Amino acid sequence: MRTVNVLLGSRSYAIKIAPGLIDRLGRECARLKLGTRCAIVTDTNVGKRYAKAVFNSLVASGFSPSLVVVPAGETAKSLKTVRSCYDLLAAHRLERKSFILALGGGVVGDLAGFLAATYLRGLAFVQVPTTLLAQVDSSVGGKVGINLDAGKNLVGAFYQPRLVVCDLDALKTLPEREFRSGLAEVIKYGIIYDAKLFDQIERELPKLLKRDPQLLTAVVARCCEIKAEVVGRDETDDGLRAILNFGHTLGHAIENISGYGTFLHGEAIAIGQVAAAKLSRSVLGFPGGDVQRIESLFRRAGLPTALKLKTGRRKKLFAAMRLDKKVSGGEIKFVLAEAVGRVVWGKSVPPALIEAVLAADEPG
Ligand SMILES: NC(=O)c1ccc[n+]([C@@H]2O[C@H](COP(=O)([O-])OP(=O)(O)OC[C@H]3O[C@@H](n4cnc5c(N)ncnc54)[C@H](O)[C@@H]3O)[C@@H](O)[C@H]2O)c1
Ligand SMILES: [Zn+2]
Repeated sequence: MRTVNVLLGSRSYAIKIAPGLIDRLGRECARLKLGTRCAIVTDTNVGKRYAKAVFNSLVASGFSPSLVVVPAGETAKSLKTVRSCYDLLAAHRLERKSFILALGGGVVGDLAGFLAATYLRGLAFVQVPTTLLAQVDSSVGGKVGINLDAGKNLVGAFYQPRLVVCDLDALKTLPEREFRSGLAEVIKYGIIYDAKLFDQIERELPKLLKRDPQLLTAVVARCCEIKAEVVGRDETDDGLRAILNFGHTLGHAIENISGYGTFLHGEAIAIGQVAAAKLSRSVLGFPGGDVQRIESLFRRAGLPTALKLKTGRRKKLFAAMRLDKKVSGGEIKFVLAEAVGRVVWGKSVPPALIEAVLAADEPG
C-alpha cells in the first residue's frame, strides 16, 4: 500500500492507495475515532457494484452505516438532490460525531463533501473515489460543491476529508471512455510538475491502458503526491493551485459550448492541453518537439487533440472562455509550459494568438 500525506496543519489527512482496500475500509475508518453512525453516499452505478462490500466492511468494524443512493451523472450535483439527501441524513439520525463516506466518482465526491460540509455545520468526511479522475484529482484538495442553472460548481466550500481510500480494483469496472478521460488528468500532472512521470506514461502507456494494478498504484500515488504538494502550498486557490488548470481554460469553454456530456471532462482538457502547449511554443518558446510529444501521447491514449470549429462556434468558444471563473479583469489568462514538467500561470495571451492556434485545427 502507498500512503500520501496531505499536510494542512490540523486538517492534514492520508490518502491510502492499493488494490483491495475496500475490504479493509472499516478498519481504516476505525482509526479515525469517529462515531459509529455513518452514511454511505453513492450513485446507482457504483452502488450496485460496491455498496455491499463497503457496507459489510463498515459493519464488521462496528459501524452502523446507512445508504444514500443518488442518480448517476452530473445532474446529481443539484440543490434538489442535496435537499433530499439532507432529509435522509436526518431520517438516519446522523449526529455531530457521525461521518459521511463518499463512494463514487467526482460527482458523488463533490456532492457528499458538500453535504458533509453543511449538515449539522460540518460532519467528518471520508472519500472512496472509484473513477481514475476522482482518485487523482477531485477526491484530493477539499473542493466540494454543487451546480446551479447558472453554471457548474457555483455553490460550495473548501472542506477537507479526514481520509481518502483509493482502491485500484474499483477501476476494473470503469467504462473505457471514463478511464481514458481520467488519463488526461494523469498526463497533465506530468506536464505541469514531473517530467519523469511524463516519460513513464509515454513508456508504459499500453500497460497503463490495461489497468495494471501495480503500475496504477505507482502512478495514482505520484499524481496524489503532486496534488497534495500543490494544495499544501495553496489550499484556498490564491496562487500556485492555478497550475492544476493547465488546459482547463479552453477545456471548460469546450465543455460549455458543446453542452455538458458531448465531451467528457478529460476529453475537453486533452484538447485544451494540446492548445496550451502550442500557445506555450509561441509565447514562451516551448520546444516544438515537446508539443508533438504531448499531442502524440494524448492521441495514443485515445483522447481528442483538436477541435474542428466553424467561425461562429469559435466566437462562442471565446465568449465562454471570457466567462471562466479564472478570468480576472476581462483578460484570458493561461497556464503555459516552459518545459515538460514546468509551467507558469497567469499568462495573458493575445486573442489573435489563440485564434491562430484554433484556426490551425480548422477543416479549411
Ligand atoms: N472537487 C474537485 O476538485 C474536482 C476536480 C475535478 C472534477 N470535479 C468534479 O468531478 C465530476 C466528474 O467526476 P467523474 O469524472 O469521476 O464523473 P462521475 O462521478 O460522473 O463518474 C463517471 C461515471 O462513471 C460511473 N462510475 C464511477 N465509478 C465507477 C466504477 N468504478 N465502475 C463503473 N462505473 C463507475 C459513474 O456512475 C458515472 O456514470 C464533475 O462534477 C467535476 O466538476 C471536482
Ligand atoms: Zn480537470
